[in-house]
Amino acid sequence: MEMCLALLISIACTVIATFWWLSLREIDRFTYGGKVFFKTLWHLLPAKRQPLVNVKFTNGFEMMTPSYTGKPVIEEVLNFKMRPDDVVIASYTKAGTTWTQMIVRMICNAGAKKDVASKRLANQFGFLEMPEVVSALGKGFQSLEKWSQAERRFMKTHLPFKLLPYELQHNGVCKLICVVRNPKDNCVSLYHFHRMASGLPDPGTWDEFFASFCKGDIAYGSWFDHVHQYWKVSQERKDSVYFVSYENLQKDMKSEVAKMAKFLEKDVSENEIDAIVEHCSFSRMSSNENTDFSEFNKAGLMDFSVSKFMRKGQVGDWKNHFTINQNIEFDELYKARTKDWTLNFEFEI
Ligand code: A3P
Repeated sequence: MEMCLALLISIACTVIATFWWLSLREIDRFTYGGKVFFKTLWHLLPAKRQPLVNVKFTNGFEMMTPSYTGKPVIEEVLNFKMRPDDVVIASYTKAGTTWTQMIVRMICNAGAKKDVASKRLANQFGFLEMPEVVSALGKGFQSLEKWSQAERRFMKTHLPFKLLPYELQHNGVCKLICVVRNPKDNCVSLYHFHRMASGLPDPGTWDEFFASFCKGDIAYGSWFDHVHQYWKVSQERKDSVYFVSYENLQKDMKSEVAKMAKFLEKDVSENEIDAIVEHCSFSRMSSNENTDFSEFNKAGLMDFSVSKFMRKGQVGDWKNHFTINQNIEFDELYKARTKDWTLNFEFEI
């Protein structure tokens, strides 16, 4: 009798769990599956790296996706509802996203800079294409959906323009800030990031990674396609799309902060700009546990013994990596791929 009851209860539980699972959106299944995987198998795996997956999305766009995101997530991103006061920071990975995030939060919270610096930056932004698998590490897609209507949403993304929410692609519903960095330094920074971030595939040797970068065979696709698409849009939508370069931030952070404040329609005094520049310096941000990604290191998702997130923060480090031949090859590629561009990059300052 007791055996029968136990059997009935376990059948009922299985049926309820199956219905619950089937009632979930694909993104939430992906998230729950990811949580279980992260808590169990992930720690047991000798090699934690997952390969990239080439995904074709319902709008026909194809991209190599890293393991922390995927089709179920990005399909939801495409249909994500924007709000007019949203602020989106879009960049190719390692272009200076975190730096710009900090500046933008400080501009929008002028007068409360200490608050911004003393809270985890990853919790002040939502990472658009990141499902909330390890919520302790920062806000992801689901938090953006649930974000209080009373508070302005800040989000970051590395998605190409064609995978942004349709509302954002088709009209300038909110402010979009694009961060770009010269491709040689971007490639070097990305190489070191691949070496230490377990969510990305093993980069192989520098020569192998350099070849993949040139071909665009990496997470989020080609640097050239990514940057060019955003640049074209910024030219058509000057009121809602703003371009900032890593090199300009390095050369004159103060005037870049002032220009960004103007774009964000924020009155920020000269003194406040000085304070923002101070808070957002490389030395301050690399010694602030709220901005240096040390939580990821503690969680085993990054390995700072291989390379730190706040690595060098310089323009021109590519010279320490590119061979003479690689430099010639890249210059030729750059010339061919950017011949119609009106956007110029500085490779040293
Ligand atoms: P390096 O690897 O060249 O040091 P992202 O935030 O897009 O992932 O970019 C990370 C890159 O920006 C890293 O480059 C990091 O050191 C650099 N960076 C972050 N904050 C910075 C700051 N305040 N000043 C200069 N560089 C910064």
